[in-house]
Amino acid sequence: MLKESWSLIEEHQEKVAGYFYARMFLSHPELRDLFPVHMDMQRSRLLGAIVTAVQTLEDPEKFDSYLRGLGRDHRKFHVEPEHYEVVGGALIEAMRQYAGESWSVEYDQAWADAYAVIASKMLSGAEADTNPPYWYAEVVAHERRAQDIAVFTVQPLQPLEFRAGQYVSVECPRIQPRLWRTYSVANAPRRDNTIEFHVRAVGAGWVSSALVRRLEVGDMIRLAAPMGSMTLDRRSTRDTVFIAGGTGLAPIKSLLEELTRYNRTRWVHVFFGARNREDLYDLPDLNRLAARYPWLSVVTACSDDPTFPGEQGQISDVVARYGPWNEHDFFVSGSGPMVKATLKTLAEQQVPSIRIKYDSFSEMA
Ligand SMILES: Cc1cc2nc3c(=O)[nH]c(=O)nc-3n(C[C@H](O)[C@H](O)[C@H](O)COP(=O)(O)OP(=O)(O)OC[C@H]3O[C@@H](n4cnc5c(N)ncnc54)[C@H](O)[C@@H]3O)c2cc1C
Ligand code: HEM
Repeated sequence: MLKESWSLIEEHQEKVAGYFYARMFLSHPELRDLFPVHMDMQRSRLLGAIVTAVQTLEDPEKFDSYLRGLGRDHRKFHVEPEHYEVVGGALIEAMRQYAGESWSVEYDQAWADAYAVIASKMLSGAEADTNPPYWYAEVVAHERRAQDIAVFTVQPLQPLEFRAGQYVSVECPRIQPRLWRTYSVANAPRRDNTIEFHVRAVGAGWVSSALVRRLEVGDMIRLAAPMGSMTLDRRSTRDTVFIAGGTGLAPIKSLLEELTRYNRTRWVHVFFGARNREDLYDLPDLNRLAARYPWLSVVTACSDDPTFPGEQGQISDVVARYGPWNEHDFFVSGSGPMVKATLKTLAEQQVPSIRIKYDSFSEMA
């Protein structure tokens, strides 16, 4: 019923989102301050996210931990338990408004029931969390490594515990207040608690271009609790292959740094690809690691730089040329298309999917 009813309004999504927010802010103006200053319906994260969550509720157990995590994460938006009812009500009203006469009381009930299950899981996740909702961190270094790539380091005011390979949500109150995006931590946990990020400014991207072009040493940013499961299994004895596209190197670098602390026995291969040599922004440091640790090898490739002396082509194709890879653990990170192409290559190479962990920075469609 959820899918059937959604099909009645799917093509009016932007209008539904507009109505949803207008309705919610009219009845509860105090909620406006939770949302970004510039609301862009095409980028409306909340409505799309709720619809996806509700529609995937066929297997509630499977989504339990995701929804609990989402609820925990919503503490950074200052969401309170009483807000859930307001959002749920506005959502159903907006759908009813645009569905026309085909909408029914049964549809109303189906959405209300599904929303209630999701909200209660999110709320219980939020209640159980003992961490602060977010951490303030001061920018202590900021370096432009390429036209649209920056590497910067922050010092959290309170320690923020994370595992190598995880990512955190980042917001810069001075430049883009209340706009949060996720970025991978590019280092293993350090004694001084500093955290490094590698960010590429994407096309019309709001947060990434602010972080690359406008962030300055001394700025205070906010970070939310670490997430993600692209972490190392210390018990595995298999050799490891890391495949990174562009700033997809960030979590790979973190995992590599962790390996340098204990690895003696596993061969580790890093495949690092970008469009041109300028975008291989961290190569000197990777080469330094490879010179120091005999178990580490680094292969670089450019897809759009014919005179580059390393490999030519997409990194997913380059990996295939170096196989066979059927005995290895894999970690893949980069843009959606890069991750998708790499997973396809690995499937063709008969790599069991259970041995592959990946983080996709954008849609894989
Ligand atoms: C788990 C995870 C970890 C991430 N880690 C990093 C990281 O370490 N470094 C990093 O630079 N980014 C990382 N990202 C991507 C980051 O979260 C943002 O999506 C990205 O910076 C764009 O945000 P924005 O606000 O600038 O763009 P938005 O305003 O959100 O989007 C602008 C447009 O660009 C498109 N777009 C978004 N990302 C990309 C992309 N990668 N390539 C092409 N088009 C894109 C969007 O579809 C949209 O149309 C990560 C994403 C995820 C999900
Ligand atoms: C079923 C309930 C809900 C679901 C499934 C849900 C899901 C999501 C998801 C997945 C995101 C994007 C995550 C991100 O950008 O970090 C999001 C963003 C957000 N949510 Fe929720 N949410 C729910 C309820 C609420 C409620 C009750 C509020 C309170 C008003 C709220 C406020 C926000 C805000 C402020 C954002 C950021 C919006 C933006 O950046 O454009 N959410 N939500």
